[in-house]
Amino acid sequence: MSNYHIKHLEEYFQVYRKSVRNPESYWEEIAEEHFMWHKRWDNVLSYDFEKPEFKWFEGAQLNITENCIDRHLRTRGDQTAILFEPNNPDEEALHITYNELHDRVCKMANVLKVEGIQKGDRVCIYLPMIPELAVAVLACARIGAIHSVVFAGFSSTALATRINDSNCKMVITSDGSFRGSKTIDLKGIVDEGLKKCDSVETVLVVNRIDSGVEMKEGRDKWLQPLLDKAEATCEPEIMDAEDPLFILYTSGSTGTPKGMVHTTAGYMVYTAFTFKNVFQYRDGDVYWCTADIGWITGHSYIVYGPLANGATTVMFEGVPSYPDYGRFWEIVDKHKVTQFYTAPTAIRALAKENLEHVEKYDLSSLKVLGTVGEPINEEAWHWYDENIGKKKCPIVDTWWQTETGGIMISPIPYSTPAIPTFATLPLPGIQPALMDEEGKEIKGNQVDGRLCIKFPWPSMARTIWGNHQRYKDTYFSAFKNMYFTGDGALRDSVGYYRITGRVDDVVIVSGHNLGTAPIEDAINEHPAVAESAIVGYPHEVKGNALYGYVILKETGETRNQDNLRKEINQLISDRIGPIAKLDKIQFTSGLPKTRSGKIMRRILRKIASNDTSNLGDTSTLLNPEVVQEVMDNVIK
Ligand code: PRX
Repeated sequence: MSNYHIKHLEEYFQVYRKSVRNPESYWEEIAEEHFMWHKRWDNVLSYDFEKPEFKWFEGAQLNITENCIDRHLRTRGDQTAILFEPNNPDEEALHITYNELHDRVCKMANVLKVEGIQKGDRVCIYLPMIPELAVAVLACARIGAIHSVVFAGFSSTALATRINDSNCKMVITSDGSFRGSKTIDLKGIVDEGLKKCDSVETVLVVNRIDSGVEMKEGRDKWLQPLLDKAEATCEPEIMDAEDPLFILYTSGSTGTPKGMVHTTAGYMVYTAFTFKNVFQYRDGDVYWCTADIGWITGHSYIVYGPLANGATTVMFEGVPSYPDYGRFWEIVDKHKVTQFYTAPTAIRALAKENLEHVEKYDLSSLKVLGTVGEPINEEAWHWYDENIGKKKCPIVDTWWQTETGGIMISPIPYSTPAIPTFATLPLPGIQPALMDEEGKEIKGNQVDGRLCIKFPWPSMARTIWGNHQRYKDTYFSAFKNMYFTGDGALRDSVGYYRITGRVDDVVIVSGHNLGTAPIEDAINEHPAVAESAIVGYPHEVKGNALYGYVILKETGETRNQDNLRKEINQLISDRIGPIAKLDKIQFTSGLPKTRSGKIMRRILRKIASNDTSNLGDTSTLLNPEVVQEVMDNVIK
């Protein structure tokens, strides 16, 4: 029996039982057999839910890039590591072999060193989905710098907030990016953002679109000439198991984004292990995850997990609709993709288009399909199963989070019988619990509650950068000795889990995690706005969309409401990014509030979702009359 590669259901149950009975020896065996260490650990796990503190493989020394690159060179140096598919289908795809990846990463690492980056320094990476993004990530890891990748769809303000939060010394960006038929001026966004950042000394710029941007003397440098001069070898920095590998920001229900800190050894072991099992990757396969490396999915399942397994991983620069809605399927056909991993939003959007876009292509190379980021509805699941998988590819509905580092609940292809909309069973080592509001665990099946994890796992985030108290408050205070996920879930009669959605004020829009409070803060900056409340409501394609209730100041001034709506969305776009724009904005004279002055979002959510049959008792509100007004003016 191999702990590392599970092949049937009985084996899953055996492995799972073993992993729960003795987690330390379970993970130790995997760490021992499948990775390269400079020094073995003294202790597999120590933890304390009160502090909270979690340490995996303490005392071990390693470099994750040796595990992702160097150790494959002897056996698969000429195999494609990264297969880059450009935005423009007429531009040739790039096959970067493990040998080439090694040289590129070492050169970039040497450039970082020359530019003064040392172990522990934070480097912000703000790049489109081009090979330099993966190379920059790995180059940081090579020299022990902590990368903080910011999704290149975030605005200059959002970028600045993230740079300042972790005091990044350097930004790596490009002159611009291609996105479908558009180009985006990334360097301009960086320049704008950096007006508010003091910590950044150097900006390295990749030339991607040849747009001739302005370079600030003494700060900005074109990357290519520096790479041309750099050596193609770079000794890896020897890291401790618990040294931070990266920071990745995620939205909270309140306040500034949380810089989740992931450390080295546990993250490596867990992402590699889950990649192998969840996608059943075999030598010769071509694996494609359509996420952006700006999100955790890209970190764990485009870069680290696949490369730690010596896989071929596709990186796609473009969008599913360019040059037409067949692009994904064209790429699957062209590169003979075997595993395809995407978000329900993309599936729903593509399912709306003519099937000809699918039928034109040969998808017979596909073996496993995956989804991530939000609940998948039955209709989308069946469309995916029938039209893309041709009913012969298992679908893995993978539930996890930025904070968990790797996939937590998911079917294992060919082992776990799938049921649409169910993430099914916990992966080995993962011990879910459903909790009631009083903090008691709900045992047995056919129950629902708040989803927690009751034992540490190797890839859990260890803290929030600069704010350990917030880490404790957010994840470890709601339930004693448990990690609280923020999601609700049900467990059916056979023990399968289905994620029912967030139970806090985070809304998942098109698979993107958005906190409502920061959006409200942005809106409230508008001079005409007195107060606002944002809620999510079901949306056919995006899963959820955002609905804003806005109270205007009584200035006596009458303003054109459509213009106001545009201005409000522009503000949101500037402060956060276009992904956080509101689909509907309703102006109202009041918002339903409790007697203590708290906005009753539950009621607003129901009204926005056209589900007003059961609003509950509104008579105890401070202002019950406002409910009717809000209902009368709802935007359908
Ligand atoms: O609500 C869950 C939802 O996405 C949240 C995590 O978002 P983020 O940190 O951005 O990471 C997304 C990619 C891992 C979760 O709390 N979510 C993620 N996967 C699923 C899901 N909801 C239902 N089913 C899933 N498979």
